[in-house]
Amino acid sequence: MPFATVGDVRLCYDDEGGGPAVVLLHGFPLGRWIWDAPRAALRDRYRVITPDLRGHGDSEVTPGPYTMDALADDVARLLDALQIERVVLGGLSMGGYVVLAFWRRFAARVRALVLCDTRAKGDDRGEKVMRQSTAQVALEQGTAAVVDGMLPKLLAPRTLAEQPDLCAAVRARLARTDPRAVAASLLGMKERDDSTPTLATITVPTLVLVGSDDQLTPPALARELQAGVPGARLEVVADAGHLAPVEQPAATSAALRDFLDRLP
Ligand code: MLT
Repeated sequence: MPFATVGDVRLCYDDEGGGPAVVLLHGFPLGRWIWDAPRAALRDRYRVITPDLRGHGDSEVTPGPYTMDALADDVARLLDALQIERVVLGGLSMGGYVVLAFWRRFAARVRALVLCDTRAKGDDRGEKVMRQSTAQVALEQGTAAVVDGMLPKLLAPRTLAEQPDLCAAVRARLARTDPRAVAASLLGMKERDDSTPTLATITVPTLVLVGSDDQLTPPALARELQAGVPGARLEVVADAGHLAPVEQPAATSAALRDFLDRLP
């Protein structure tokens, strides 16, 4: 797997296939592995790049907070390093927050957007307090203490009932995230802008994709995204929770493929 040093951080990424570039960003506290199935499904026709955001997966852990703007800058620098000018940019959950920050900063580099299991709104006061205390727990007790309660919210009831191996694998992946990165991401998300006003500024084709059973960013929020972005298309993936590309890889990949194949 390749690495690139961009600015002050060494990022790991997968870069497979050929054709128009598609960059897919993972959520919190996840890694590029959530896009394994779509990457495999798209690489015959697209160059699919899936980085580990700083602190996550095999990328370097740096001091936080990891603001959404800083993560967007990392993506832009990675594209510079790979000599790619314009991309289709997608992101899941926190990755979607980064996508919206990227749009604000580098709109000219974007051909199309994919907003997956994510939302535009910033955190309210209660969410900010919760982020702060969860960051503290991660630093004091480790990542496992934070992720233990997350699985039932991340995964759909059907996934939890029918795919025990997948659930165990997701839990193990989450627990592997460095606690400093967990805290740095939480503190960065806590400070993120409310992206609601950004939505109306989007002038490229946009796909909003959500799991039918996503509890963290439910279909109602996806509909708000779709309503906010001119001409956006909505795909609801049946029997998926917050991790649609992991829980329903075939349906998610097919929705992505259909969107990409129709781009001008
Ligand atoms: C994620 O999956 O990236 C998180 O649920 C985002 C968040 O905590 O807001």
